[in-house]
Amino acid sequence: MHPTSLAALALCVSQALAAIYTLSDNYVGAAFLAAWQHQAISDPTHGRVNYVDEATALAKNLTFVSADTLILRADDTTVLDPVGPGRDSVRIQSLKSYTTHVAIIDVRHMPQGCSTWPAFWETDGNDWPDGGEVDIVSVNDASPNTMTLHTGANCSMPASRPETGTPTGLDCDVHTDDNAGCGVRAPGADSYGAPLNAAGGGWYAMERTDAFVKVWFFPRSIATPLDVASGAPFVDTDSWGTPTAFFPSTADCDVGAQFDANNIIINLTFCGDWAGVPSVYSGAGCPGDCVDFVNDNPAAFVDAYWDIAAVRVYETGGGLLRHRRMNDRLHRRSNFY
Ligand SMILES: *[C@@H]1O[C@H](CO)[C@@H](O)[C@H](O)[C@H]1NC(C)=O
Ligand SMILES: *[C@@H]1O[C@H](CO)[C@@H](O)[C@H](O)[C@H]1NC(C)=O
Ligand SMILES: *[C@@H]1O[C@H](CO)[C@@H](O)[C@H](O)[C@H]1NC(C)=O
Repeated sequence: MHPTSLAALALCVSQALAAIYTLSDNYVGAAFLAAWQHQAISDPTHGRVNYVDEATALAKNLTFVSADTLILRADDTTVLDPVGPGRDSVRIQSLKSYTTHVAIIDVRHMPQGCSTWPAFWETDGNDWPDGGEVDIVSVNDASPNTMTLHTGANCSMPASRPETGTPTGLDCDVHTDDNAGCGVRAPGADSYGAPLNAAGGGWYAMERTDAFVKVWFFPRSIATPLDVASGAPFVDTDSWGTPTAFFPSTADCDVGAQFDANNIIINLTFCGDWAGVPSVYSGAGCPGDCVDFVNDNPAAFVDAYWDIAAVRVYETGGGLLRHRRMNDRLHRRSNFY
């Protein structure tokens, strides 16, 4: 009797890495004074700004902390001498730097108004651009938000990838396209500026590994993942759905090699290389010349402030908390001769 070929069963065990991270730094209120530094530096992007040191910022109440709040704001009372320094403002940077991690900002209000260029971002100030840069929140007073990578040579993104935002550029290399970077525009107006503030703010979350950078914007909504909204001690990025922006490692960009340990920075500048470009400035519906506007209109800067509930950083705890989830899948392969 001809032996019957039985259907062969192949057991394929696929292991999926559940992306569980644990809280390593919970920056709230006074932690921004203890564990971040004010940087009274000149703006590398040539803004009409005068970054002040911590003592000055506290004395002028440009920086204010309470039990659950960090306020960072610009001077909104001084008419500037056109040949003197720019408008007083604040730039702070975390003392710690991070490689594989998740950073979440719970923001209640961000600076809004003509000429304002606020940013929540990460970079390695000692090794730019080769240490990479992730702009999580950054554009002129124009919604929606754009999330952008800036890198060294040889990093470009695929045109089509799983994200809810829309690419504005694919080449992340700072040496090309006037350092435009590879940006992704968020789909919703509530992700930035006045609409974000009107909605009471929201959360931005960024996950960085050697394999990718992902950014999510979550509005104040019951649909926002509970681990994000509650400031939980653990987060599982796998449960957050399609990211707003997705920057994968591919043959065209080795994300792991493009980034080293990055600090987190929050800044607020005015005009400058991006926001001061006439087409960008007037395109946002702003009057006259950007620098003149900053000099002459202090009252226009009353809403130029960050109100931040927390910045939380989660890490993988040396791999111990990176759980291996076994997804057993039985694949039946039938062989009929
Ligand atoms: C502020 O943030 C942006 C990131 O979008 C950065 O390009 C710029 O250099 C920053 N300015 C300062 C002075 O830190
Ligand atoms: C400083 O700013 C905070 C937050 O806006 C405000 O509540 C407080 O009254 C201000 N303090 C002074 C002395 O103006
Ligand atoms: C980028 O790629 C080119 C061509 O493949 C190579 O010659 C160059 O060394 C690369 N540059 C860096 C910084 O990796």
